[in-house]
Amino acid sequence: MPREIITLQAGQCGNSVGSKFWQQLCQEHGINQDGNLADFATEGGDRKDVFFYQSDDTRYVPRAILLDLEPRVINAIQAAPYGNIYNPENFFIHKTGTGAGNNWAAGYSMGGTVEEEVLDMIDREADGSDSLEGFMLLHSIAGGTGSGMGSFLLERLNDRFPKKLIQTYTVFPDTLPQNASEVVVQPYNSLLAMRRLTENADSVVVLDNGALARIAADTLHVQEPSFQQTNQLISTVMSASTTTLRYPGYMHNDLVGIVASLIPTPRCHFLQTSYTPFTGDNVDAAKTVRKTTVLDVMRRLLQPKNQMVSTKPSKSSCYISILNIIQGEADPTDVHKSLLRIRERNLANFIPWGPASIQVALTRTSPYMQPPYTTRVPPRVSGLMLANHTGIATLFKRIVSQYDKLRKRNAFLEQYKREDIFRDGLGEFDESREVVTALINEYEEAERSDYLTGASGGGDEAAGEGAGGDARTDGGASG
Ligand code: GTP
Repeated sequence: MPREIITLQAGQCGNSVGSKFWQQLCQEHGINQDGNLADFATEGGDRKDVFFYQSDDTRYVPRAILLDLEPRVINAIQAAPYGNIYNPENFFIHKTGTGAGNNWAAGYSMGGTVEEEVLDMIDREADGSDSLEGFMLLHSIAGGTGSGMGSFLLERLNDRFPKKLIQTYTVFPDTLPQNASEVVVQPYNSLLAMRRLTENADSVVVLDNGALARIAADTLHVQEPSFQQTNQLISTVMSASTTTLRYPGYMHNDLVGIVASLIPTPRCHFLQTSYTPFTGDNVDAAKTVRKTTVLDVMRRLLQPKNQMVSTKPSKSSCYISILNIIQGEADPTDVHKSLLRIRERNLANFIPWGPASIQVALTRTSPYMQPPYTTRVPPRVSGLMLANHTGIATLFKRIVSQYDKLRKRNAFLEQYKREDIFRDGLGEFDESREVVTALINEYEEAERSDYLTGASGGGDEAAGEGAGGDARTDGGASG
């Protein structure tokens, strides 16, 4: 039984990232630019139906809905290679075509005005699947559409599909003080969206543009990386994190399994990622051939410089959980030895109240990404780390402090006050700040040994409500 996933992409960033992701999935499953299976694509064993369905003429169609409040990005996707693979009924462009002008409240309100039309599209896709597992939302939180309309969608999805999993791939703006922000009101938009990510999503994969640019610059030797390049990093992460669903083994082959193994308490559901190595077709400029043993890969995954989010962990920061998805020629004995070595060297500091183990899923690489289907020789071993780490709270603290600065000066509030949600006052800002502050506290409490039993936290109550049941430690291998 496939466990289908419907992808919603909202705004410029969400749609640009999404189009890269679909290109990559097509290549990995031997699907041509017109949606047909390539002549060579005879190998079985993959599960295309998690992300695609077949049309009457047997073409593969992404289970994707593309939403925007202005036409530019979606039009460009339609005109580009792979533009024909999507279901033409699944494009939604708001008729005013003005965008949300970097205003969360405008995106949220416009979401409300088109609710019926958009939910119809979602219902149609949901009805077209046999056993829908959940939704993936791709968006950024600094602007108006991905952030505001994305927030609106998260609330509605939660109401309408309470039993389905909601995972997001969320692009955070660069929040490091030395880097000027591109969108001056991004702290407002980010804070308001963070509330919905906290309350309405089961799992949020956090990617930040600052870290992505740093990785592109350091690893790929590109000074000013384009969105094209950062989106390729993101789509590589998305593809790797869904490999166990698309090329299933006997573990982690549905989203619930992955989420449950990473998220023991429901509020702490913000995941960070590392990937190594970025080489060859992944990103053109990274031609350095490296020695890729399982141990090397696992070590690199733990290095802060490979992390796709900029955090400043303190001495007490620790991992709540880690899942390494290792692709390529890795045998379980190597994995076991590497885990022992990592433990001996104390390379990963874990929470005191749970199992201190790195879970590992070994997965196949798509046959079509290797010779003879491509001239590229893939790295012997590559890996993705999905990690739940308490240091993520430092990113949220930066957002709150940048919000406080802007708010203290009452800057740029007029445009927000024009929208319904702020008509009766700015309470929405205050409530969102409270939710994010509580989230920061929750992560800080999670560093203490009495987190689950102590009087301070909501840990006790939270532990039983994990997204997929209680904490599971059923990784393919753990050490
Ligand atoms: P409006 O423009 O207000 O209608 O909202 P939107 O959601 O379409 O805006 P957008 O997605 O452009 O959000 C702005 C944020 O997204 C900024 O932090 C940008 O740096 C970032 N961003 C925009 N496009 C991309 C992209 O293709 N890739 C990445 N990584 N970030 C992007």
